Amino acid sequence: MKLKKVLTADQSPTLYVSELDEHYHSVNGAVRESVHVFINAGLKQIEKETVNILEIGFGTGLNTILSYTENIKLKKLIYYESLEKYPLSSEIINSLQENSVFSSEISKKIQQAIWEKPVKISDNFTLKKIQIDLLDYYPDKTFDLIYFDAFSPDKQPELWTEDIFTKLYAATGKNGILVTYSAKGIIKQALRKVGFTVKRLKGPEGKRHMVKAVK
Ligand SMILES: C[S@@+](CC[C@H](N)C(=O)[O-])C[C@H]1O[C@@H](n2cnc3c(N)ncnc32)[C@H](O)[C@@H]1O
Repeated sequence: MKLKKVLTADQSPTLYVSELDEHYHSVNGAVRESVHVFINAGLKQIEKETVNILEIGFGTGLNTILSYTENIKLKKLIYYESLEKYPLSSEIINSLQENSVFSSEISKKIQQAIWEKPVKISDNFTLKKIQIDLLDYYPDKTFDLIYFDAFSPDKQPELWTEDIFTKLYAATGKNGILVTYSAKGIIKQALRKVGFTVKRLKGPEGKRHMVKAVK
């Protein structure tokens, strides 16, 4: 994939994929969107002290970095599994590291963590990055929180299906939460059909709504 780094409205960078005409994050603020959707509506809502997180789409590692940072305050014990079909080249990673959100030692450790093996980022944060297509992934554990951060349903309809959500529902623990930035009607319907209780929440800057689905 041909990628181009661009700055978003909150000065954090994202990547533009020309083949899909799609950005990795909202151009209205990459950090702002990730904090709103995944941290505030997701991680901060989990009451358990030991939390298993599954992310669909590791990408730049932004959601992992923000989860790690928030957890400095929350002090939970986090296991974070992140799937990615197209890992970024070291050239792109190096260019992202010129920007402050990706320049800390922890950000670099997260972005450069080896694939397929659990890596201890700190005493209470373990990251396992898996290079796999979501379509071929079968979870071997349950998760308290799922960050569904694939490209949009218009661009990747094959990932926003009842079959995929059925697989993810089965991998969600009791009272577990799935959060995503898309609030399209067919996505909410599909999530409801497989068993989730679906709530539409206020979206981040530039988007009216987002979705929180609870098991
Ligand atoms: C909207 S971006 C979000 C990236 C990431 N969460 C971040 O903050 O940078 C979507 C991500 O999903 C990945 N992806 C696309 N198709 C996939 C698939 N079939 N299975 C797993 N990951 C996929 C893309 O390569 C991209 O990294």
